[in-house]
Amino acid sequence: MGEDMTESEQRVALITGCGKENGIGAATAQRLARDGFIVVVSDVAAAGVDNDQSVERAGGGWQGLDTLVARIEANGGTATSLTGDVSSEDGAAHLVAGAIDAYGRLDVLVNNAGAPHGQDRGQIEDVPLSAWEAVMAINVRGVFLMTRAAVPHMKKRGYGRVVSMASVAGLEALPERAAYCASKAAVIGMTRSLAYDLAPHGVTANCVCPGSIRTDRAISSTLRAGWTDVDEGLAERAKFIPVGRHGRPEEIAATIAHLASEDAAYITGQAIAVDGGGLPASAF
Ligand SMILES: NC(=O)c1ccc[n+]([C@@H]2O[C@H](COP(=O)([O-])OP(=O)(O)OC[C@H]3O[C@@H](n4cnc5c(N)ncnc54)[C@H](O)[C@@H]3O)[C@@H](O)[C@H]2O)c1
Repeated sequence: MGEDMTESEQRVALITGCGKENGIGAATAQRLARDGFIVVVSDVAAAGVDNDQSVERAGGGWQGLDTLVARIEANGGTATSLTGDVSSEDGAAHLVAGAIDAYGRLDVLVNNAGAPHGQDRGQIEDVPLSAWEAVMAINVRGVFLMTRAAVPHMKKRGYGRVVSMASVAGLEALPERAAYCASKAAVIGMTRSLAYDLAPHGVTANCVCPGSIRTDRAISSTLRAGWTDVDEGLAERAKFIPVGRHGRPEEIAATIAHLASEDAAYITGQAIAVDGGGLPASAF
């Protein structure tokens, strides 16, 4: 912490992958700000990076992280933004150090960034090595690097919450997603091991495993599956979800907020599905 910095009394949360208006990251940042956290919102690019069939972008004046900070501040919260690549050692270090420099502490890390999907989807013989590597670099190495950078600070303070976005894809089989399923299973395995190591230090580590949530990612998946009308495609896929609809980013944010709270001190090493009761592989 710089000499002119005073330590905040409010808890501070750093969230990755916040650049898209309809994303889980932006919803989480707004929820944590409402719950009283100072939030540091981040992404590799200010307005996020596209999935291969992205369509619902930048409506209503959305300009990415700056707009998100403005909305949080307009609601009485405190926020700042940083850009950085979670998959690079320097990028991850920059994000964690930036949050600590800004507010003097870091209590919560939400590893939400996810690799854009596209070429990683398909039969394994059609998946280029570059697509496998991109998925592993962002989804797995990114969680490793961000957590590795944040944990020493949390241990020193004897308090911390690490919440990483896995997926139901890390818990069950989904077709034509070998790289994505492997990456999310890796996040769950990493989290379970971390939970052991961090428990004596007052730091918990958990995963949230969303089912199909109506974000750029799910919309892109629907278009990729051959639907031209997004709402029609989503409605058809939702018939297989027991709750009868896709999840909302705010519903994932609510579970993240609980795991990020002091109330969740006795929950660690878990992979919690938030999936409307399960989505069988046949629906993808
Ligand atoms: N939407 C769903 O149905 C669903 C289901 C299960 C899991 N998830 C997971 O939830 C998380 C959020 O996904 P989403 O649905 O909000 O949409 P998304 O996948 O479009 O958002 C991912 C965000 O990560 C950012 N990102 C990509 N590469 C990055 C990098 N190298 N460094 C930093 N940020 C980077 C993107 O710019 C984007 O803003 C992802 O980890 C995803 O795998 C989503």
